[in-house]
Amino acid sequence: MDTKEIVGRYSALAQETCCLSCGGAVDKSEARLNEVCIDLGSGRGTDVLRLAEIVGENGFVYGVDVTAEMIRKAETTAAKMGVDNVKFIQADLEHIPLEDEIANLIVSNCTLNHVSNKLRVWQEIFRLLKNGGRFVISDIYSRFPVPEEYANDPVAVSECWAGAITKNEYLKIIRQVGFKEIRILEESNPYPKGEIEVSSFTITGIKDEFSCCC
Ligand SMILES: C[S@@+](CC[C@H](N)C(=O)[O-])C[C@H]1O[C@@H](n2cnc3c(N)ncnc32)[C@H](O)[C@@H]1O
Repeated sequence: MDTKEIVGRYSALAQETCCLSCGGAVDKSEARLNEVCIDLGSGRGTDVLRLAEIVGENGFVYGVDVTAEMIRKAETTAAKMGVDNVKFIQADLEHIPLEDEIANLIVSNCTLNHVSNKLRVWQEIFRLLKNGGRFVISDIYSRFPVPEEYANDPVAVSECWAGAITKNEYLKIIRQVGFKEIRILEESNPYPKGEIEVSSFTITGIKDEFSCCC
């Protein structure tokens, strides 16, 4: 995927203080002491640092983001705060350079809508979670399929709306990769964003490869 527009927009936003989130993934995550967590699209690192405090010195939190400026900002803040149970990795979410089954918890806030190959990202989430691990992800979905003229416009995708898919498509992909116990934890009313109508939601599910269906 070409992330040039995304990197350009978020490089400029790395030093700003405006809110880039669209839900309460970390608040809803019920992260626990000693857990290993990953934040996908970690931005300035705020959620990684919050999780680092919760999981404690025997836990660990990875932040993954494609924008070098975001990674630098997050690393600088972590160093200033003396937090050392974190690591920030510059990578595209379609290819995350971490080993299989490393995490108890994967969170993400307002990022997956940017990624063109949604199935690929969800396969990565499934690969990275331990059996019994969970995701808690805040994102937007579109009320209706996004017209192609916008969906193929990299600037509109970088603005957090044109890369959105419908709720049905979203849930279908999550089921397809094998997650169980999928639940919506919070969901907004529809609101206009760019040229479309979206809703924000926070969704969770469990990787349970050995659950029986009988
Ligand atoms: C809306 S911001 C959210 C940042 C952070 N999660 C927060 O809530 O403040 C989206 C972030 O995702 C990153 N991002 C977008 N597309 C990505 C991709 N394909 N791979 C990795 N990171 C990506 C951007 O660089 C940006 O930092």
